Amino acid sequence: MKRGTDIATAADVLRAGGLVAFPTETVYGLGADASSDAAVARIFAAKGRPRAHPLIVHLAPEARLDDWAIDVPDAARRLAAAAWPGPLTIILARGPRVSLATTGGSETVGLRVPAHPMAQALLRAFGGGIAAPSANRFGAVSPTTADHVVADLGDDVDYVLDGGACAVGVESTIVDLSRGRAVLLRPGGLAREAIEAITGPLAVADVAAPAAPGTLASHYAPRAQVIAVLPHEVPAAVAAAIATGRRVAVLAPTSAFAAWPPSGAVARALPDDVAGMARELYAALRDLDAAGVDVVIAALPPAAGLGEAVGDRLLRAAGPRRSES
Ligand code: TXA
Ligand code: MG
Repeated sequence: MKRGTDIATAADVLRAGGLVAFPTETVYGLGADASSDAAVARIFAAKGRPRAHPLIVHLAPEARLDDWAIDVPDAARRLAAAAWPGPLTIILARGPRVSLATTGGSETVGLRVPAHPMAQALLRAFGGGIAAPSANRFGAVSPTTADHVVADLGDDVDYVLDGGACAVGVESTIVDLSRGRAVLLRPGGLAREAIEAITGPLAVADVAAPAAPGTLASHYAPRAQVIAVLPHEVPAAVAAAIATGRRVAVLAPTSAFAAWPPSGAVARALPDDVAGMARELYAALRDLDAAGVDVVIAALPPAAGLGEAVGDRLLRAAGPRRSES
């Protein structure tokens, strides 16, 4: 594994069928040439991810939607024009350039134009689509720094492009537009309100929606047990956890600690604004794991704006552990 900031080297690794971890504005991605089934297979192997879980194809800002998707509805064009580059993935009918290995056998494809300058430089130097999931082991918390990637994947990745800490901090919002109406498959770095201003109200995923297997209840989980509660429930939850004799941490906005300094628990403050919470959430969960904490009592933010994604990730981190995590 090599690490650096050399775009040309990273593009060469992709052309040779290798794996490049690269920064996006949301989280780091583990990228491979989306047109090479062999390269894409290496992603699944490195992550330990089931082959049926589709990968997002990342595109340069100049890319043409119709080269990667077919039957593109007008709503998708308007959404792409308004939100790209940015933290939004749009699910569309798969174009012939996208292989079934990338989509996990699905006839749909997730497309995204990332806003991070290093991601865009890599996409331009490479010249094609880059298939990339988050650059973590399957089921773990997504990486928001190059150090996180190295800690998770080590020598299973050929080159790590280091672009510093990700500005958004949670994964992209996923909207399905492959079936006529706009369906929210995963809340994320682009707030629902910004999308609905263009598409109208987003439907919630139903059984007919394309599976977004990464939205399994047990995803985004650190090693420690996470208990997500409303802010006013935090003191009682902390007391109950301490009473069990385990090492307890509190993850809450700074203002919560000003009013209520926990005793007997590790205090990990997050910014008071939901964008700041999103930016620091995954690093905070990793820090608490590294500190050897057994239980994290996390305060759920209001669901508006990026608060919807932060709450979603906390509840998934708190979800039941299953074999797939
Ligand atoms: O912000 C992000 O989205 C990051 C960065 C690297 O772009 N990527 C990311 O990828 O989070 P991943 O693979 O960790 O999560 C993508 C989710 C998965 O749950 C996957 O199942 C879903 O998107 N997905 C991808 N393509 C899909 C498709 N065609 N239909 C339904 N779900 C899809
Ligand atoms: Mg992921």
